[in-house]
Amino acid sequence: MVTDWDAHWWLEEVARDPTFEEEVLPLLIDLLDPRPEHLYLDGGCGEGQGMRVVAQSGARVIGCDLDATLLGHVGGPVVRSRLPSLGWLADRSVDGVFLVLVLEHLADHVTMFEEAARVVRPDGTLAIVSNHPAFTAPGAGPLIDPADGEVSWRWGRYLEPGTSIEPAGSFNLTMHHRSLGDLLSAAARAGWMLDRLDERGPGPAARNRDPLLAAQHQIPRLVGLRFRNARRP
Ligand SMILES: C[S@@+](CC[C@H](N)C(=O)[O-])C[C@H]1O[C@@H](n2cnc3c(N)ncnc32)[C@H](O)[C@@H]1O
Repeated sequence: MVTDWDAHWWLEEVARDPTFEEEVLPLLIDLLDPRPEHLYLDGGCGEGQGMRVVAQSGARVIGCDLDATLLGHVGGPVVRSRLPSLGWLADRSVDGVFLVLVLEHLADHVTMFEEAARVVRPDGTLAIVSNHPAFTAPGAGPLIDPADGEVSWRWGRYLEPGTSIEPAGSFNLTMHHRSLGDLLSAAARAGWMLDRLDERGPGPAARNRDPLLAAQHQIPRLVGLRFRNARRP
């Protein structure tokens, strides 16, 4: 299986960047609200930080990722596989799926929503934490007024699907952008009913560390989505 991810870069990111513990993982727990004994799949689990925090609730978690080096750090049940396919999982076999900072790496989000709807039981959960589409549009970025330092946001090509290339260690990653409407419509067509949408700017600790982030506190950076599986057996 070909890996197109720099595992060592990602391990360093997780170790060095407090944003995961301060913002990303708390948002995941808010959305997923994991229940003891329920079985969840962490799609694109990386080195397992999401799996560990969900397992603290007493839930059972399996992870999948395409990167063998990252999977070696998980210390829990994992399957090496390439999303969006979940062909190794039976229909209605898990209580929920979560995808943390993964959807934007997948070229085919439509199949991801369909596969998640197939493997999650009726009324089960899909929780997604992702870079906000306002943030991922090609050409999007902060605009700083030199007169007074005010920061506003350039939307770039928000309305069209697109890609951008981001440096990530020894690789260049392709990030896939879709508008919020595109994402929600694809999820609805696959049978997902939205029951929470959470948009978050940089959190208080990040704002204290970085004046540019402090000036962007009203600009969304992360989006959290929670859906219920409305498909009936
Ligand atoms: C930004 S990291 C997030 C990892 C983890 N969800 C977390 O929050 O720590 C993205 C992860 O997605 C994995 N990934 C990217 N494309 C994938 C694909 N097509 N199938 C499976 N995993 C993939 C990468 O190997 C990496 O571990």
